[in-house]
Amino acid sequence: MNRTPLIAGNWKMFKTGDEAVATAERLAELSRDVENTEIMIAPTFLSLPLVADAVKGTKIKTGAQNLFYENQGAYTGEVSGEMIKAAGAQYVIIGHSERRQYFMETDDSVNKKIKAAIEADLIPVLCIGETKTQRDEEKAFFILDKQLKDGLKGFHSDELKNLIIAYEPVWAIGTGLTATPDQVNEIHQFIRSVIRTIFEASFSDAVRILYGGSVKPDNVSGLMKLKDVDGALVGGASLDADTFIKIVKFN
Ligand code: 13P
Repeated sequence: MNRTPLIAGNWKMFKTGDEAVATAERLAELSRDVENTEIMIAPTFLSLPLVADAVKGTKIKTGAQNLFYENQGAYTGEVSGEMIKAAGAQYVIIGHSERRQYFMETDDSVNKKIKAAIEADLIPVLCIGETKTQRDEEKAFFILDKQLKDGLKGFHSDELKNLIIAYEPVWAIGTGLTATPDQVNEIHQFIRSVIRTIFEASFSDAVRILYGGSVKPDNVSGLMKLKDVDGALVGGASLDADTFIKIVKFN
């Protein structure tokens, strides 16, 4: 199965608007010769329309880092899928472990957010991953199975055509600890097998599964060689365009 690689940068709560635009413009310039790899960057909500404008007509696509599941209303501080779409984004990251950890996001809210993303015609990037304690207690498979099944509950595969899954072991995020290729391979195969129990085989063959957690220029090619790794969701190393482009050009 040929799946186009996607290298995505999650800029988290970094960069003012001006800084975000400058990095995006530099990345657009450095990625002019990139073929057969999709590139996405997810700046803060404030920078998103500026960055989306700056990269129009280039190889770079944009995404939001979160959304709220209602379309509009009295929800102080929230942003809807429709607003993200209107800002020029194509993707939205949903259920990142930092949101689960600090903002009480649950598999149930993740499920609602995926629905909202689809209704707004945004491509959801569903993040799943186990903590260090869960791994040590040998609960990783159980947790990932639950995050997938609860997060994707109630959908028909047609609605999720472009779904992207990102496996981000919480213990590897921002720690410099990357899961070993064997660990990543085992989990990505497991994720695809769970997807196969929820939807049909052709869907599970086509769904793209990204790895995230301390991806850097010097470990990306080993990870991208793994059969079930279809890209990367990069935090720290995506903040500098000259570093990130080395990850984008992984081979
Ligand atoms: P780091 O690449 O900084 O470990 O972050 C990974 C991540 O959380 C991407 O969403």
